[in-house]
Amino acid sequence: MPNAALTIKDNRTGRTYDVPIENGAIRANDLRQIKASESDFGLMSYDPAFLNTASCRSRITFIDGERGILRYRGYPIEQLAEKSSYLEVSYLIINGELPTADELARWTHEIMHHTFLHENVKSLIQAFRYDAHPMGILVSTVAALSTFYPDAKQVHDAKIRRLNMMRLISKLPTVAAWSYRHSLGLPYVYPVNDLSFAGNLLGMMKKMAEEKYVPNPTLEHALDVLFILHVDHEQNCATNAMRSVGSSFADPFVSVAAAASALYGPLHGGANEEVLRMLREIGSVEKVPAFVRQVKKGNGSRLMGFGHRVYKSYDPRAKVIKRMADEVFAVTGTNPLLKVALELERIALNDEYFVSRKLYPNVDFYSGLIYEAMGFPVEMFPVLFAIPRVSGWLAQWEELLEDKEQKIARPRQLYIGAQKRDFVPIEKRAGSQIF
Ligand code: ACO
Repeated sequence: MPNAALTIKDNRTGRTYDVPIENGAIRANDLRQIKASESDFGLMSYDPAFLNTASCRSRITFIDGERGILRYRGYPIEQLAEKSSYLEVSYLIINGELPTADELARWTHEIMHHTFLHENVKSLIQAFRYDAHPMGILVSTVAALSTFYPDAKQVHDAKIRRLNMMRLISKLPTVAAWSYRHSLGLPYVYPVNDLSFAGNLLGMMKKMAEEKYVPNPTLEHALDVLFILHVDHEQNCATNAMRSVGSSFADPFVSVAAAASALYGPLHGGANEEVLRMLREIGSVEKVPAFVRQVKKGNGSRLMGFGHRVYKSYDPRAKVIKRMADEVFAVTGTNPLLKVALELERIALNDEYFVSRKLYPNVDFYSGLIYEAMGFPVEMFPVLFAIPRVSGWLAQWEELLEDKEQKIARPRQLYIGAQKRDFVPIEKRAGSQIF
């Protein structure tokens, strides 16, 4: 709509302002002209947790949370999951277009030939305790890679940037697999470049004494589809961390370490780990109603794998995963916790508490069951999330760097603390009664 604008009347002064509306939004900075007096800083918007604030204009991922739609670069997630591969989607998310056969072959070659890690990284991982959480190892090791590739600091050199993006996408599976082998006290397995991306990861994690590891094609394909589903999800907590840290022009290794740290939390990528713990705690179908009652009491426990800031209907990724579960279980045998999960979903989707709050299963609700059936321990779930998500983080990071409107991310605050007061000598203090 041309010349769309919002007319605001300030009741403090009686003045009115026309604020332009573009892409369904006003610019928060346009509010600054609204002042109660000449010395006033100007009006701000207050939005803890960014509930209604767009921090960027993006061409990467589209989500319609009400209708359960997710598209990467315009392509519906269901079509990509059915017809594409992770490396093809990774190319798409970063470059904006699907690759030709030639482009895909070159991309695959590049990614699969950057999978090796410097031998020193091995000693770094070996220094962790045997029971270190692999996500802690991943975060630390990715940050440490920054010191191996000092050229990565040149974030404005497009060629160097691309090289380091490639390094990150390729090396994350190796770091992940080695952190897993470390926890088992097993020797680290080197990457095999002629396996697929998912097949190579499976090999580095599972290979024992066999001459050459041959992945089960169903499990290899299922892992690849799970990777596609996790590539990007616009401005979530981890991506916001990636953009925020990247906005100071920090190199992509430390920025990815920050994003992975955000992903680690139980409300975000750590949720699939929590789902499994919850299902185990419930244990059997008969105990589901009592558990749901407990959650509804609102005493802090949540139905993990349910609810989403954006989706107010069924997460489209959860639908794909639920369908794929049958294929995986045909190979691995059914995960006994599936029955508990299905009952939980059935009860929740018919319960007023969940229905009225529009709480539906999210991507993490079923992914953990598949990962467990494939033999991955729960601690590896967030790591398996981070491996493909790095493509999305990097696409978002590059978009940020090329966006002329972006500056260092630096929110404002509303200060509500003490006004100026004079220093009190220690013998005259009343004490704050904290200890
Ligand atoms: N179980 C029970 N109640 C819930 C749940 C849940 N999983 N999620 C939200 N609610 C309730 C809240 O208590 C709140 O109720 P109230 O209005 O009576 O206070 C209402 O629903 C709205 O919840 P918010 O916390 O305001 O929603 P928000 O958008 O901030 O949170 C989140 C979204 C963090 C995903 C939340 O739904 C949650 O904690 N889910 C469980 C963890 C999870 O599965 N995370 C993975 C998300 S997907 C991903 O990150 C890859």
